[in-house]
Amino acid sequence: MKRAVTLLLVLLALAAAAVWALNRRDESPLTQASWQPTAEQIQRGAYLAKAGNCAACHTARGGAPFAGGSGIATPFGTVYTSNLTPDRSGLGDWTPAEFWRALHNGRSRDGHLLYPAFPYPSYTQVTRDDSDALFAYLRSLPAVAQPNRPHALRFPYDSQAALAVWRALYFKPGSYVPDAKQDAEWNRGAYLVRGLGHCIACHGARNRLGATSESVELSGGLIPMQNWYAPSLGDPGEAGVAHWPKQDVVDLLRTGINAQGASVMGPMAEVVFRSTQHLNPADLQAMATFLQRLPQARTAAPEPGPRDRRLIERGGELYKQHCASCHGDGGEGAAGAYPPLKGNRAVTMDPPANLVRVVINGAFAPATAGNPRPYGMPPYVHVLEDHDIAAVLSFIRNAWGNQAGTVSELQVLQFKQGQE
Ligand code: HEC
Ligand code: HEC
Ligand code: HEC
Repeated sequence: MKRAVTLLLVLLALAAAAVWALNRRDESPLTQASWQPTAEQIQRGAYLAKAGNCAACHTARGGAPFAGGSGIATPFGTVYTSNLTPDRSGLGDWTPAEFWRALHNGRSRDGHLLYPAFPYPSYTQVTRDDSDALFAYLRSLPAVAQPNRPHALRFPYDSQAALAVWRALYFKPGSYVPDAKQDAEWNRGAYLVRGLGHCIACHGARNRLGATSESVELSGGLIPMQNWYAPSLGDPGEAGVAHWPKQDVVDLLRTGINAQGASVMGPMAEVVFRSTQHLNPADLQAMATFLQRLPQARTAAPEPGPRDRRLIERGGELYKQHCASCHGDGGEGAAGAYPPLKGNRAVTMDPPANLVRVVINGAFAPATAGNPRPYGMPPYVHVLEDHDIAAVLSFIRNAWGNQAGTVSELQVLQFKQGQE
């Protein structure tokens, strides 16, 4: 008995030591070299902050830019973003080496581990040079005094020990290693998409502990808490772009719409609005090149079972009444204004989460320099009952040659809950 207990204790100690060691992988000593940011660094940092979309998370509604305090809802509770301005309550006392360690290793200035709601599993690929430029830019901002708000996470997720175990399992610091088999443009695109762009934070499939899988890159997933589905970038039936002319990929990221009739919505509209529309033409070309060369595979669509004809018919009536004025009697849309619903993969995709969100909340493509006055769609939350929404969506998924499963009232109920 005594021996068994001793053995157990030894095993536990070994496991703790392994977790501790795994959490310190690839950490370098915090050197205190004197540091003088250049104007060029600050300017480049401002650009990189757009590429990384730092302000989106680190700005509270109505708050000062980069001063933090906005809550990121996760299935484990709410994580609050930190103050990144040069006040002492923000990054005022930080060194470039400490900032690099936060981005590269997910560790705060005082050494505590950071939650991956901060997408450092992607930012770990950012180069030291780019990290220094980001830091130079953040240090040039007006200082805002705003202490970081404590997180509101449930037990056991609120403990550093649980986070250490999570990191030992799912986080590995990495550096971007150029792929010699690909050209420089592809490599630049891969660096941006996998690193600062953190596209996988939404477009990656997640396991029960919230970790994204890299086995099939950007294979799509339901964004936790928001109930938007970020489609697979490796599936031509979802958001794969390999078959589009490259200019259409660039246009979508730059303007939010393109000649394919695609238009971004919800969280993706935010990404285009705050981040990708500001990127230079060379970087957008590079990202498009990378996205187009992602391996493509069509997921077998579930065979739509027997469909309720009466539901679809009732949906057809509702469509005429509420939707046809914009999307057209034949679902053909209007170029540059209203997306077509006929032959639109966003309409037939599973799960139908985004359809529910669009009809409930309405949608606006982002206002960008390339599309300054986007057309909008009104919300129907106070106009249509859940069963009406199920009917109209079942109709558009089965009209004009579209073929997909009908949408049930239960699915509407399930997907309508979510935070914008
Ligand atoms: C998707 C949301 C999100 C984005 C985008 C994001 N962050 Fe954060 N960041 C967070 C959250 C949440 C935390 C707090 C994590 C914690 O306290 O465990 C954080 C923490 C940090 C910290 C640690 C601060 C401290 O006091 O320990 C730094 C540094 C940081 N972020 C820099 C950046 C930079 C630079 C960018 C852009 C390249 C960025 N973040 C983009 C969510 C985000
Ligand atoms: C905050 C979550 C989020 C992030 C981060 C994100 N996406 Fe998306 N993306 C979505 C959602 C949700 C959709 C589905 C809605 C839509 O089609 O606009 C989408 C759709 C897309 C589409 C298909 C658009 C269409 O109409 O066919 C492309 C292409 C895309 N994303 C590329 C990217 C790239 C590249 C990045 C990284 C720079 C990225 N996304 C980052 C959430 C996100
Ligand atoms: C006033 C015009 C208008 C009306 C009426 C309207 N829509 Fe829309 N709809 C739009 C616009 C504009 C967009 C693009 C929004 C964006 O990109 O964010 C859109 C987008 C959509 C999308 C997403 C398409 C895609 O490619 O991602 C669906 C699905 C949709 N509408 C269905 C409907 C249904 C169903 C109705 C009726 C209940 C309806 N719409 C009524 C203007 C309208």
